Amino acid sequence: MIVCSCNVLTDGEIKSCLDGSASAPRTAAEVYAALGCAPRCGRCATTIRSILKDHAVNCCNDDSACDCLPSRVVQKETADA
Ligand code: FES
Repeated sequence: MIVCSCNVLTDGEIKSCLDGSASAPRTAAEVYAALGCAPRCGRCATTIRSILKDHAVNCCNDDSACDCLPSRVVQKETADA
């Protein structure tokens, strides 16, 4: 599914750069950079942030093997709620 029509980015391409490493994108801006493009209209930023959060919840919420910062952001948001 095309998420960013300006840069023709699919959800699969976005998810592919979320590899759980310490250098994996943590923000929408970092996703654009990792995929070699830049935001234009910005309409896709909300969807990209949603993909980042979903990745964090599904990938590394046990904090064992993954070094994704989004997981820690989600955990902190949950703890602060
Ligand atoms: S839809 Fe992604 S920058 Fe326009």
